Parts: sequence; structure tokens; C-alpha cells
Amino acid sequence: MSSSHRPIVFSAAQPTGQLTLGNYLGALLPWTRLQEEHDCLFCVVDLHALTVRQDPVEFRERVLDLAALYLACGIDPERSVIFVQSHVSAHAELAWLLSTFTMMGELERMTQFKDKAHRHANNINAGLFTYPVLMAADILLYGTHKVPVGEDQKQHLELARDVALRFNGIHGPLLRVPEPLVTGGGAARIKDLQDPTKKMSKSVESDLAKVMILDEPESILKKFKKAVTDSLGVVRDDEANQPGVVNLLNIWRAARGATMEEALAHFAHNQYGRLKVETAEAVIELLEPVRLRFREWRADAGALDAVLERGGILAGERAEGTMRKVMNALGMPLNRRRFVMGLSDQ
Ligand code: TRP
Repeated sequence: MSSSHRPIVFSAAQPTGQLTLGNYLGALLPWTRLQEEHDCLFCVVDLHALTVRQDPVEFRERVLDLAALYLACGIDPERSVIFVQSHVSAHAELAWLLSTFTMMGELERMTQFKDKAHRHANNINAGLFTYPVLMAADILLYGTHKVPVGEDQKQHLELARDVALRFNGIHGPLLRVPEPLVTGGGAARIKDLQDPTKKMSKSVESDLAKVMILDEPESILKKFKKAVTDSLGVVRDDEANQPGVVNLLNIWRAARGATMEEALAHFAHNQYGRLKVETAEAVIELLEPVRLRFREWRADAGALDAVLERGGILAGERAEGTMRKVMNALGMPLNRRRFVMGLSDQ
């Protein structure tokens, strides 16, 4: 797997809360397609999630939930590496080393830090501040070529590039400088069902605003029936005046694999009621198999553990190769354990 010449892709999500239909269409589904032609690593970044206080009992379950969700969505452990960040200690270690190549000013500029510091004003811990350094380590450890990221993570990826370039400028070209990969596109830009001018977000309060990947069919139907539209009464592709209708059209065609022309033809002369119900039906059909596979994986703790253990070993071996080179370049004395493990990747 790792010895192939396919470009290396790394991506990750935090095990906090459930993921939405927007996450599915914009991230998880595109990830499964990348497996065809790339050497992919998909990580559950538990260390990142610790920057916000977690209940330990709940947290362990959320980590397993997310790993099971990756599998349920179609990430194939025979083709891709699925693993938990904390299982590969090199992530935290490289993050430390890279923090000495990251400037305070760079981290202070991160809009997500400013935003999170504002939202968690009583817990502005240093981890929240150095979060992007750990993310840079995640990516740079594997010689990643491409990183599928959403708009909100572009600034972090840019920082990872800057850190790699700075390191390389001083110590030679050891770290591959990653490129962003824009996945999804128009049809995957799913909006909030209650406020269709905003992106559908898992952190929004209202249950009606977001469809979760694991929602039951009845709940999906209810949410779409209550989706906010407008009073114009015609199904048109007019984002400025009818954001709710356009969002439903986009969701329907993403779920059905149809173009906007096909969607408009399909719903011409229809009331909004039919658009809402048919969109709900398309989403239910799309998510049902994912929910069922998720349950199967979650019911088989042994199988899930086995996948994660193997993923951790595969990722760990590959990470060691980078650690060995970086530590050597920085002038650290040879570490025999690292040397032996990291060689398998070379
Ligand atoms: N920060 C990302 C998010 O919250 C998650 C993440 C951590 C990530 N490390 C990464 C994404 C490396 C891509 C690559 O969405």
C-alpha cells in the first residue's frame, strides 16, 4: 500500500459530536472516491479534540463512533489507512519539533483560534493556540501530497506549508509541501435548513437546522418538511432570492447525482411540499446504508479494534521514516528504536 506511486492524501476529522449531511457530501463521500487513485490516510484526531474539555467516558465512545463512521461511509481499510491520532506518538513529537519552526505571530493570526478563544473564553489553553502546529505535524509526517480540506481549514493548511518551507529552508528539502484539494464543489455546499444563507454546521444549536448522517428516516423527513423556503412559490435556481429552495435542489441533486438542469426539469411546476418530501426521500436512501453499516461496526468491537490497531501500526511505521529524517537533520543522536522502525518506509 505505502510502496505504491499513487499520490499521498491525508485527511482527518475531530471526534466531537455527530457529523452532518454536509460533512458527508462535502468530505466523507469525496474521501471514499479519492481511494481509487490515491494512497490515503484517514485519521481520527483525538488529540486535537482535547483542546476543548471532554468527558473521558463519552470521549472514548466518540472516537470509536467516528472510526466506525469512516468505515460505514466506505473508507476501505484494505486500501486506506484508518487510524487514531493518539495511537501514533510521532504526531505529538513532530508537533513539538515543528513548534520551534512556527512563529507566535503566525498562530495569533489564525481566525479559528480567535473564534474558539472567543467561544471558550474560560478555557483558552495553550493547545488551542498550537492546534495548527499539530495539524501541520499530521500532514507532514506522511509526505502528504494533497489534503482535502474545507474552506475553514485552508488557513491551517497554508500554515503547514509555511512551516514545511521554513524547515526545508534551514535543513534541506526533507518535508513535502502539501497542496490543498478542494473536494465537493457546488453541489456539496450544503446549507442550514433553517437559515439557508449559512453553511450547515454540526455546532449550530437547532436540531431542525441540520441533518445528521446517522439520523433516523422519520427525523430526516421531519427536518426537510420544516425547512425554510420563501413565499415566491416557484422552483427556480435563484440563490439570491431563494436560498432555501436552491439548497433543497442542491441536496436533491447531490443525493441523486443529477445536474441543476435535471433538478429544475424534475421539479418544474411543483409546490415546495413535493420538493421537500422528495429531497428527504433521496437523503434517506443515501444515508440509510451508512447508518446500518455504522451499527454493524459499532456492534463488533473486536473488528473495529482490529482495524484501528492495524491502521495504527501502518501509520506508525510510515511516520517513523519522517521522524528519523527530521531528528537526524536537527542533530539529535541516533535513536535505535526509531532507526529500526523507520527503515521499513524507505
Ligand atoms: N482541523 C481539522 C478540522 O477540525 C481536523 C484536522 C486535524 C485535519 N488534522 C488534520 C484535517 C490534517 C486535514 C488534515 O476539521
